[in-house]
Amino acid sequence: FPPLLLFLAELVCDAQPTYQWKDTVTGERLTCQQCPPGTVVAQHCSRDRPTVCEPCPDLHYTQYWNYLEKCRYCNVICGEKQVEVQQCNATHNRACQCQEGYYSDMEFCIRHSECPPGSGVKKPGTPFEDTQCHSCPPGFFSPNSSTNPCQPHQDCEQQGKVTNVQGNRYHDTLCTSCRLGRGNTTQGPAVEDDDCEQAMIDFVVYQNIPIKKLKRLQQILERSPKKQQPWTRAAIQEKFRTFLTQKKEQHYEVTKELLDALHIVKLHSIEEKVRERFLL
Ligand SMILES: *[C@@H]1O[C@H](CO)[C@@H](O)[C@H](O)[C@H]1NC(C)=O
Ligand SMILES: *[C@@H]1O[C@H](CO)[C@@H](O)[C@H](O)[C@H]1NC(C)=O
Ligand SMILES: *[C@@H]1O[C@H](CO)[C@@H](O)[C@H](O)[C@H]1NC(C)=O
Repeated sequence: FPPLLLFLAELVCDAQPTYQWKDTVTGERLTCQQCPPGTVVAQHCSRDRPTVCEPCPDLHYTQYWNYLEKCRYCNVICGEKQVEVQQCNATHNRACQCQEGYYSDMEFCIRHSECPPGSGVKKPGTPFEDTQCHSCPPGFFSPNSSTNPCQPHQDCEQQGKVTNVQGNRYHDTLCTSCRLGRGNTTQGPAVEDDDCEQAMIDFVVYQNIPIKKLKRLQQILERSPKKQQPWTRAAIQEKFRTFLTQKKEQHYEVTKELLDALHIVKLHSIEEKVRERFLL
């Protein structure tokens, strides 16, 4: 043979794997060609005839060159929280993946975790990995359990307002248009001013009040029985703030009641701060 033909023959041999087969009639050892993916052996080769391959029937496959006599059954079944990502075809078994919002953990699809209040998503969950959370960095907050990233605090100056309460991990910075005290006393804020009333509520609620006293304040104003849920400070603050804001909107004298309550609970320094800041 000319060298080029030999070379080509070798290439073909390399591309087409073979197997050893003992002819059942003659007992002769033969080297047969394997069948390509998607097919199996219909007839093994004989001395004068190459291997005969046949395609896999529906719902069956072979993924590799082979000398199987039967195709494999597509035996993967997608579960309840799974979606099919590879259809069963002649060359591939069916393949499944956890559906949106779930990740796989030992055979099971488990819902992505939410990040607790004060922390947010650092890396969203994938079909293979749970959500990764991190505590909100300075300047960011997340008020509730969520699969959202931490949000940046708002910038009051940018809105032409002043910062009333500095934000933390759990809540946003609160701005106000109320002209807060300190120096410019000639035009003090009118407490009747809705904006100022809200500002005062926000200011008091988000003071660093010990949980016990915060609960006492809440009881006094809500006139609620003593039994309370074992909530976190952040949760109590949110609830208390909502309550006071509603009360304000119903035109109760929240400002006065709040000051009285501060007095009863002996939060004198805070009471002072409020009087000074809001010129009460
Ligand atoms: C089977 O699916 C695979 C992957 O999606 C694809 O590459 C291949 O061409 C398909 N085979 C047939 C016979 O349709
Ligand atoms: C969580 O907080 C975000 C931002 O304040 C809000 O849009 C969302 O509705 C809240 N989700 C729940 C379940 O409270
Ligand atoms: C207080 O008044 C002075 C002079 O009118 C003004 O320049 C300053 O911006 C005011 N400060 C605040 C906090 O309103």
